[in-house]
Amino acid sequence: MLSLVSLGVKATRERQAGHQARKPPAAPARAPPTLRAAMPGIVVVGAQWGDEGKGKVTDMLAERADAIVRFQGGNNAGHTIVRNGTTWKLHLMPSGILHPGKLCVIGNGVVIDPKVLTDELDELRRRGVETSALRISANAHLIMPYHMLLDHAGEAKLGKLEIGTTRRGIGPCYADKAARLGIRVQDLLDEKILKKKIVAALDPKRLSLRPYAKDPRLDLQSMTDEYLTYGHVLEPYIADTSRLVLERLDRNEMVVFEGAQGAMLDIDHGTYPFVTSSNPVAGAACIGAGVGPKDIDEVWGVAKAYVTRVGAGPFPTEIEGPLADEMRERGGEYGTTTGRPRRVGWMDLVALRYAARLNSLTALAITKLDVLAGFDPIRACVRYRNDEGAEFTDFPYHQTVLHHASGEYIEMPGFTEDLSECRSETDLPEAAREYLRFVADFVRVPIVLVGVGPGREQVIWTEAADNVAIGPPTDHAASAT
Ligand code: GDP
Ligand code: IMO
Ligand code: MG
Repeated sequence: MLSLVSLGVKATRERQAGHQARKPPAAPARAPPTLRAAMPGIVVVGAQWGDEGKGKVTDMLAERADAIVRFQGGNNAGHTIVRNGTTWKLHLMPSGILHPGKLCVIGNGVVIDPKVLTDELDELRRRGVETSALRISANAHLIMPYHMLLDHAGEAKLGKLEIGTTRRGIGPCYADKAARLGIRVQDLLDEKILKKKIVAALDPKRLSLRPYAKDPRLDLQSMTDEYLTYGHVLEPYIADTSRLVLERLDRNEMVVFEGAQGAMLDIDHGTYPFVTSSNPVAGAACIGAGVGPKDIDEVWGVAKAYVTRVGAGPFPTEIEGPLADEMRERGGEYGTTTGRPRRVGWMDLVALRYAARLNSLTALAITKLDVLAGFDPIRACVRYRNDEGAEFTDFPYHQTVLHHASGEYIEMPGFTEDLSECRSETDLPEAAREYLRFVADFVRVPIVLVGVGPGREQVIWTEAADNVAIGPPTDHAASAT
């Protein structure tokens, strides 16, 4: 007879053997096409400081996916999709929502401002988008009016040292979650519980909220009533989303996990304290969606062909002056959420290689290559140097070092051609191809997708896309003509 202990050992061995059998080859080796059905979980993350074009990439992948899941962040995010000349700016809604009938999930790791979400739902419906396949995790935390006030107050108190947050209440909401004072989506469905939890959450904040004592947004009854109303609107969408996603994965359906922000804004790994209050790296997809690490098969990092950053904090490859103005104008670099002008800089390969490491990137999508047309030479940062002459080829973990680091570059010939009509690698000028080759070799991650304009058809699928779970649609080459 087998003892419980030996049964346990046997089960573990079987799992390990099974895992080895289906373990995908390490990138960038080619995966045989037969593995595709067994590779359903794809994470899309920002590999810089946000605004890399995650919305566009997710929307493209969503066409062939079965479910799209947001797993962290909140309406600090602004994800843009441009289809047939029409622009969609999404803040909380997963970027799969424009594909009718696909399961779109707002996972437990997201912080939800229910006013923003209900407004976004209204706006989408008004524009004729079917939203019935949206599902919202009952465990996701809610941004409350006091979170927004505290975000403002915190920034005002920091003065010149401010982080430059989006002031959407993100940090204070995640802080309450960690302090176990958060209000969750499920609490919207019970007036008594909701009110009790608001009272408990407000109590330790009395001192910091004193300047807002007369603010009508903080009135307990009207806040409770307002949030109960959101609860009524959102109730049909509330679900056990972790189970829904796992059901899809068990059926070998494709699930795209859509990140917000970017690796360098990660609260653990980014340029702390000039970061957001969640983990935008791929590992967080598991926690924020309620799946296990083995359910993730590919990790796509999205990066611009240059770099932008909104808000304060170190930015070793930042450009200022007329060159920066030109890049900002050409790239339309103004925040999707706040409208703030984005700081701009040259491609930072030290940071990108760090992001590849943090995320185990298996593929890169390089967006906005078209914006570099006319810049000659093109520069890419390959190491940092500090005031004392010390050289850093790895991203420095020490804040002081990073604050005093500036980029050292290699220069490559630029190109002047308009790339917006390019649809294959061979359409690209040699200088653009050389630049992409350099980036992929430096970071040691294959580039599968290149953006040459904001429109969803303005992309180039590279040869490396033959090896990924979701490659080009069959009509992509045709649409190039
Ligand atoms: P996200 O937050 O990562 O989804 O990115 P945002 O939507 O905030 O910012 C990216 C901006 O670049 C949006 O205005 C997109 O429409 C635009 N965009 C995306 N890809 C490309 C591209 O390849 N070329 C150009 N010119 N614009 C692009
Ligand atoms: P998407 O998903 C770019 C930045 C803010 C600020 C810092 C902290 O569109 O890429 P927060 O409000 O999160 O507490 O602000 O993070 N930030 C973003 N920057 N893109 C975003 O989202 C961002 N979300 C937050 O500017 O510097
Ligand atoms: Mg954005």
